[in-house]
Amino acid sequence: MLDAFSDYIVPFQPDADMFKAALNSRGFDPEASFVAVENDEVIGFWNVATRNAKRYLISSGTRVGHRGRGLAFRLGTTAIRAAGNAGIESFWLEVIEGNAGAEHLYRKMGFDVTRKLDCYRLDHPSPDRSSCRLSDLATVAHTIQRYATWEPTWQNATETISGANPTCFLHEKGGAIIGAGGLVHQIAAGEPAALADLLAAAATAGALTLVNVDSADRELRSLLQALGADRFIVQSEMRLSVPSIA
Ligand SMILES: CC(C)(COP(=O)(O)OP(=O)(O)OC[C@H]1O[C@@H](n2cnc3c(N)ncnc32)[C@H](O)[C@@H]1OP(=O)(O)O)[C@@H](O)C(=O)NCCC(=O)NCCS
Repeated sequence: MLDAFSDYIVPFQPDADMFKAALNSRGFDPEASFVAVENDEVIGFWNVATRNAKRYLISSGTRVGHRGRGLAFRLGTTAIRAAGNAGIESFWLEVIEGNAGAEHLYRKMGFDVTRKLDCYRLDHPSPDRSSCRLSDLATVAHTIQRYATWEPTWQNATETISGANPTCFLHEKGGAIIGAGGLVHQIAAGEPAALADLLAAAATAGALTLVNVDSADRELRSLLQALGADRFIVQSEMRLSVPSIA
């Protein structure tokens, strides 16, 4: 994993605990995942998660010295075939804009882009929690569902984050945010002013990172731009309808 990601488009060298935690929270499914092995060494991998009738590619890579031999393609097609055998309907993944090799590979396997996702860092100029109150995840997730115009991606889904016990705020006028002073997983509100208040409330616990904001959410995008947020990554979400194997 560390070797395969040593030349990745963004620095990504997690320690073992961080890597295990990320796999576990996303629902890593060993039965759905595959490695390529040569001389007893893992030289390529497709780490996959399962939830209901969906599968999700958590991470994939081929060690630097073994690239260009078709390993990633074979790992991917094997994982897709296994998904078909297991009655899975769709396979999902995200790829960072600029990782042309990986995107080419996923398209070759039959994945298509479903939407663009933006990642932001925000050092909020005026943190303030006066119009919001702390609440629990179940209440807040329910409120967000009511106001949201788009689905969170796999890593921000309520099932993924429920074990992490994130800090949540509820707005008095309708709206909520999950994740404060760190990773914001979900945010939605009935009106733009409430959205702004929620970001200000979450920022009272520290600087914010928003991963995978649907780029079609114009309200949230303009608000983040107005607050001086730095859009540091753009990703494409991709989906494949898994061919069923009767
Ligand atoms: C992307 C990655 C997994 C490809 O692994 P690989 O085993 O070399 O891929 P394959 O040999 O199976 O290549 C399959 C196809 O992708 C293309 N491809 C792979 N890497 C490419 C690159 N850097 N640029 C352009 N095309 C590339 C190959 O040309 C081939 O297509 P073709 O048959 O039409 O020529 C590997 O480069 C890697 O580990 N990168 C770093 C980690 C990473 O980006 N992971 C994906 C995160 S979403």
